[in-house]
Amino acid sequence: MLQVHGVVEHGDERGRTLGFPTANVAVPEHGLRDGVWAGTVRLGPDGPERVAAVSVGHRPTYYGKDGARLLEAHLLDFSGDLYGRQVVVSLHVRLRPQRRFSGSADLVEQLRRDVADTRAWAAQDLLPG
Ligand SMILES: Cc1cc2nc3c(=O)[nH]c(=O)nc-3n(C[C@H](O)[C@H](O)[C@H](O)COP(=O)(O)O)c2cc1C
Repeated sequence: MLQVHGVVEHGDERGRTLGFPTANVAVPEHGLRDGVWAGTVRLGPDGPERVAAVSVGHRPTYYGKDGARLLEAHLLDFSGDLYGRQVVVSLHVRLRPQRRFSGSADLVEQLRRDVADTRAWAAQDLLPG
C-alpha cells in the first residue's frame, strides 16, 4: 500500500461542476503508478480517515498528453472544504488505468463506476475502527 503526504491544493474546479469534487495533492515524481485507485484520505495527523476514489495522472480527456500530472482524491460522502489541510492519501487497490474519454458525460459515467468499485472495496477490506 502506497502513501502520499501533502497539503491540499486548489484544482481548476472542474471536478465540482462534474459532480465529483477532488482534493488535489502534489504527486511524487517516482514510485507511484498512474491510474485510478481505491483508498483512503486521513484528515490531519490524527484525524478521521475517509474512503476515496483517487486519480493519478494527466487527465487525458481534457489535456491530451500535455497535462500536468496530478493526484486527485474524491472523498465519498464528504462535502467539506479541505484546502490547506494536511492529509495522508493511502492507495490500496489499483482499479484501472487513466483513459481518454470522448467527453465529460462518458467520464462521469466511469466516475460513477469508480465510486461504486471503491465502495465495494471499502465494504470488503476496511474493518471498522
Ligand atoms: C476517481 C477519478 C477517476 C478519474 N479518471 C480519469 C480518467 O480516466 N481520465 C481523465 O482524463 N481524467 C480522469 N479523472 C480526472 C478528472 O478529469 C478530473 O478530476 C476533473 O477534470 C476535475 O479536475 P480538477 O479537479 O483539476 O478541476 C479522474 C478523477 C477521479 C476523481
